Formats: sequence, C-alpha cells, structure tokens
Amino acid sequence: MIPKEVVEEIRYRCDIEDVIGSYVTLKRAGSNRNGLCPFHSEKSPSFTVFPATKSFYCFGCGAGGDVITFIQKIENLDYVGSLEFLAARAGINIPNDASVGAKETVSRKRVYEMNLEAAKFFRNCLFDPTLGREGMAYLSERRGLPGTVIKHFGLGFAPNDFGLLTKHMRRLGYTEEELIAAFLCGRSQKTGRIFDLFRNRVMFPVIDTAGNIVAFGGRVMDDSKPKYLNSADTPGFKKSRILFGLNYAKSHCAEQMILCEGYMDAIAMHAAGFENAVATLGTAITPDHARLLSRYTKRVLINYDSDEAGQKAANKAMALLDEVGLEVRVLRLTGAKDADEYIRTYGADAFRSIIEKSHTAFDFKLENVLARHDVSQAEGKIRAARELATIIAGVGSGVERELYVATVADRLGISREGLANDVKRVRSKNFREMRKKETRDVMLSARNFGDRINPDAAKDPAAAGAEEIILGLMLLYPEHRRAVLAGNPQLTSEDFFTDFGKRVFEAILQMEQSESGFVFSAMGENFTPDEMGRLVRITRDREALQNNDIGVLSAAAEALRQRREKRRALQSGDWQSEIARRRAEIKKKQES
Ligand code: UTP
Ligand code: MN
Repeated sequence: MIPKEVVEEIRYRCDIEDVIGSYVTLKRAGSNRNGLCPFHSEKSPSFTVFPATKSFYCFGCGAGGDVITFIQKIENLDYVGSLEFLAARAGINIPNDASVGAKETVSRKRVYEMNLEAAKFFRNCLFDPTLGREGMAYLSERRGLPGTVIKHFGLGFAPNDFGLLTKHMRRLGYTEEELIAAFLCGRSQKTGRIFDLFRNRVMFPVIDTAGNIVAFGGRVMDDSKPKYLNSADTPGFKKSRILFGLNYAKSHCAEQMILCEGYMDAIAMHAAGFENAVATLGTAITPDHARLLSRYTKRVLINYDSDEAGQKAANKAMALLDEVGLEVRVLRLTGAKDADEYIRTYGADAFRSIIEKSHTAFDFKLENVLARHDVSQAEGKIRAARELATIIAGVGSGVERELYVATVADRLGISREGLANDVKRVRSKNFREMRKKETRDVMLSARNFGDRINPDAAKDPAAAGAEEIILGLMLLYPEHRRAVLAGNPQLTSEDFFTDFGKRVFEAILQMEQSESGFVFSAMGENFTPDEMGRLVRITRDREALQNNDIGVLSAAAEALRQRREKRRALQSGDWQSEIARRRAEIKKKQES
C-alpha cells in the first residue's frame, strides 16, 4: 500500500487542470473548465474539471473522480499504476517497499523486465549463424529487410525448441509463474512442465512510447497457422491501446501519421523512409486507438489492405478518427495487396506519389457511392444523392459542407440548392435525434435505471436518495464525518439499503478513524474508477449539500430509517394495511 501522505502529495503536485489539459482541450467556464469528454464521444462539451475540489465529472457519461482516477481511466492503469505514473510525472519518489503491484501477482515492471530479457535472447538467436540461419534468411532475403532495419526494430528469432527460452529465463531467476503471466511460457496439461510459447517464429517486439517492450508478435516462416502468434493481454499490455511503431513514429508525425494493418507494413514503410507509420496489432482500430492518435498528430492517412475486408475496416476507422477530430485521408493501392508489397514492387518514390494523391475521406466515400449506383438513370441519381446528403450532413464544418454540396451537385448534374436543402433536412433530423437521445440518457441515469454501479438503487429510489445525501455530506465535510462517529445522528452501516452505499459508508468511517484520517483520493484504492465517478457525482448532485447543514444529515438519516421500517412492514405481510393506508391517503388528497 502506498502511504496516504504520498497520495496526498501526488494529488497536490499534479495539478488536475494541468494533467487533464494534456489530454483534453479545456476552455474556461466560470471558475471551472470545460471540454469534450475523452471517455465517450460527444459533440458538445459536458466534461467538466472543478479546480476548487480537484475533481472532474462528465455530465454526459458519468465518468468522474480525481486526478488519479483520470489517469487510471485514460492510461488504463490500476490505482497503484496511476500513482506511479503521476509520481514519475511530478518527480516524486514512492518509497520502495510500499509500491508496485499490491494486487497484481506479477507487476507490470517485472513483465517489462522479462520481455526485455526475452527480446535480447531472440535477437541473439537471430544473429547466431546456426540457430538463426532460417530466421535471418526469411527476414533479409524473403522479406528484403536490410540489417539496419532488423536492428532498428529489434527483430529476433525464436528457435524451434520447447525449452531454450524457458531455460535461459529460469537461469536469470524468473519463476515459472512469472514467465506464464508474461505470456512467454505455457504449462503443459499432461506433464505439468512449462515450455516456450514462441517457437520457430521471427519475432517482432512491441514497444510502447516509454520504451518498454510490452508484447511480442511472432510470425511463422511458411503458410502454417496461426500466421502470427501475439502475446495475450498481460499486466501492462492491452492490444486495444497499443500501436506498433508509435515509439519511433511519435517524433515524425506532427503533421500526419500513416495507419496500417500489419507489422510488416509498418516496418516496410519505416524502411522506405516513412517513419510516421504505425500499425494496430491484429485488431480493428478502437476508440482508444483513435484518441491515442489524436494526441500525436493532426491527420491520419489510412492505409489498409486493398481487399474488401480492408476497405470495410477503412470505413470504420474513418468514422472513429473523425469523431476525435482528426483529419482523415485514405490511400488506395492498386496493383498490390498491401503497402509492404507495393513498396517492394514499385519502390518508395512511387509510394510517395500515391501518398501525395491520397483521397480525402469525403472523396473516398463519394467514389464508393458513385460506384454503387447507376447515376446515368434518374433513379440511381436520386439514390446516390440521398446517400451523399446524409454523408455531407455528418460533416461538422459549414464551409466544407458547402464545398461538398457543390462537388456532388456538379458530379450528379443536379441543382446545388436542392441538394443543400436535403442536407439541411438531414442535419436537423440528426440534431433532433441527438437531443432526444441525450435527454433520454440523462433521464435514465437520473432514475437509477440500469444503474450498474449501484444496482440496488432502483429497488428503493427514496432510500438510495437519502443514502446519497448522507454519503455526499460525509465525503465533503469533516464535521459530518465526526458527527456520525460521535453517534449524532445515529447511523450504522445496517441502516443502509444498497450494498454500494454500505461499502462507501464503511470505507469513509474506517479511513476517518485511521491514523492519517480521511483522504478522498485514497478511496480509489478500494473503488473502481467508475465508482469514483459516482462518488464525485454524489457530492455535486444536490443543492442540499452545498451548505454544510448538520440538520440535512439528521433528516436524511431519519428518512433512511423510515424507509427501512416501511420495507420491513411490507415484507412482514403488513402490506395489506400499508395499501389501505395509502388508499386513504390518496382519497384524502382527492377530497381536499
Ligand atoms: P496480414 O495477414 O495482412 O499480415 O495481417 P501482414 O502484416 O501483411 O503480414 P505478412 O506481410 O503476410 O507477413 C495483418 C496483421 O494482422 C495481425 C498481425 O498484426 C498482422 O500484422 N494478424 C494476422 C494476427 O495477429 N494473427 C494472424 O494470424 C494474422
Ligand atoms: Mn503483408
């Protein structure tokens, strides 16, 4: 466990506005800051940073917390990992024995260490004239990679042997469990012995932007399956958040980045002088990838395989990249399956000239639509115009929309006014639907309906509401924590109806009584980032919490007890008299 003083210092030294500002463009809004939420896609900013309380909250998706929660979510780290990340940023030393992977059995650091050793081993094998002969022949002759490129990317070779790496790593002192956790070894069900997972494959280390080797991809040298074996997600590695080659591309990509599908494409491009190329790791691009890209560049050139699957993936990538505000272009390769093949066949200069002729995302879509309809006939023209109006309506900038309207109208031989009107109609329809959806989302979350964080709340919203008032006050004010501890008002965790409320209540009191007292950020140790978001919402939601009136606390405690009595009455069969009482109540109201 990391001492609370250290947690406090990290939170103090890592200014929340500063930290979040390096991921999200924040604008001043009164004493707070506003921006587009990095955790869900939205067009108008509902993500808010509150410098006064050192917290953030998104009114759209309910994400919230402190600076530690923010880093947990955006960097995909656990609580301790996030503290380490922030400590490194602020130059704070975390006392050694206290740190590192309290919960994980094998820490992220340890996995990186093992990967580094394994990468050295694979590289030595590749450059060994006997062991690595086949691998080297494959990379340099079959794939045409010069020695400089092989070294630059740290490529290696896993020999055709079940035990060489295992033996080497065990000699270095890594345990069997550690090697399995790092996805370097597997355990045989039959013999119970561990063995090398990567065998007879050329090895591609995957390096993150901090220079850690986070995973490996290993390719067979013939047509056997699977073509690539990839590390499974391990501590510190999630495929959906890593781009192969970004560690090199990050300093060559301010203007533009090239996104491709495979290890070999990225490597071929770097070798040909396009050092701004990156690749996803055998997965479709995710929203996480899109956000990651948007932190490094302004424009992404999508360069996917020219087959149908590749083009479909390109469409999806376009939408995701557009959502995070990136300018998107699409490369269309003819005469080759992928970039690697293209460069090998036609050379780097030819590739450069296609890059210069890359299509804007709109051109790409326009050509797609035109190819699908016979626009020499009226009917085809109408269909195409309808689809294109929808596409244009999705474009954010008015100037761009106007330009596209002109292009399409001319291409189809229809009037610009007519098309512009259609675009307008689609836009207002989209807008209405978006508003409707937003209101619905807000109402749903307000009614605790489908609440994953506090699923019990829907069963008794009144009790859940009283709980939130109590917890909100206790989270905000030391005098309320002390009052509860002193037994005035009398409250125990038994009074709480929801499991979530009970947990929060107990955690607050326990920490309040500990030596270092209550520290909001330290709640993150026992609550997930989503739960932390709820805690922030609880402290912000209600007007009643804004002045620290002890009377509000007593009233809520009383309400909570009454709800419990009521539930008890209902359960014990007293429900008939309860219904009779309610009927009488309603009747009285109607009469008056
Ligand atoms: P491709 O099949 O297009 O491979 O898969 P490639 O990159 O062009 O490789 P070469 O040129 O045949 O050597 C694209 C990417 O999909 C992932 C890998 O990341 C690969 O680079 N992939 C593919 C896998 O993870 N596993 C597979 O079995 C196949
Ligand atoms: Mn290929």
